[in-house]
Amino acid sequence: MLQFESVSKTYRNGFTALEAISLRIDPGERVAIVGSSGCGKSTLLRLAAGLTFPSSGRVLVYGKPVIRPEPRVGFLFQEPRLMPWLSVDDNVAFGLRGPARQRRDLVRSALLRVGLSNCGDYYPKQLSGGMAQRVAIARALASAPRLILLDEPFSALDAIRRAELQDHFLQLWESDQLSTLIVTHDVEEAIVLADRILVMQPHPGRIIEELLVDLPLDDRRESPAFEGLKKRLIHSLRQADHRSASAIHPSAATLSASALQG
Ligand SMILES: Nc1ncnc2c1ncn2[C@@H]1O[C@H](COP(=O)(O)OP(=O)(O)OP(=O)(O)O)[C@@H](O)[C@H]1O
Ligand SMILES: [Mg+2]
Repeated sequence: MLQFESVSKTYRNGFTALEAISLRIDPGERVAIVGSSGCGKSTLLRLAAGLTFPSSGRVLVYGKPVIRPEPRVGFLFQEPRLMPWLSVDDNVAFGLRGPARQRRDLVRSALLRVGLSNCGDYYPKQLSGGMAQRVAIARALASAPRLILLDEPFSALDAIRRAELQDHFLQLWESDQLSTLIVTHDVEEAIVLADRILVMQPHPGRIIEELLVDLPLDDRRESPAFEGLKKRLIHSLRQADHRSASAIHPSAATLSASALQG
């Protein structure tokens, strides 16, 4: 469904944000990417979405190189990015094609799925942060994507709204088998939402480890294996940071190794 074949991305200023990224997401799979700030997570999602293009290697969706944003691929940004001058209905309808009546039906069913079917006439300023992000989810879902790309979608929300929207996504997955690639800073979120977690290291951005989350979908936080997985993931992230620090300053590895011993 989504495939990266040895993808590298060097920006115009000569900065290499990603190097030799290979990954594959099969239909219905849910994959999380974690890594420190600046390691290239958003760049990777933007490549998958056709918002930017590889300097070398290939990005394929359904076996075809991505040359522009596709309706089969939905994108959810960190912040809702709603258009303040449009109603909720019109925000969700934005970018949809087809006859007006069909578009209206798509909007209605997308809003129903995020629990906002009575809010179509509201304007963004009348919504709470959590509601606005749900509208953004409805907009991402309205075109009935088969793959959804999420860039830290819940990070601006308080813990309760965040847990609510995570649960919401879990329900959507159960009903739709939507393939998902989610970027997050939050290791718990990665474990709750993904079947597979890719750990990235910066300078340049690379995938250095893959962790399988072999837990039932329901109540993962309560599972006895949850804490163990969390520790492994944090360890792996620390190692990623450590390796990249030693790549920039060769003495850093020795320094922190001796700090650990001391
Ligand atoms: N248009 C651009 N031109 C040049 N460099 C860029 C551009 N966009 C991003 N970068 C650089 O590429 C690197 C990766 O950026 P990216 O936004 O993908 O990181 P990220 O992992 O999403 O970070 P964060 O967790 O802070 O969102 C960063 O060092 C950034 O400065
Ligand atoms: Mg980012």
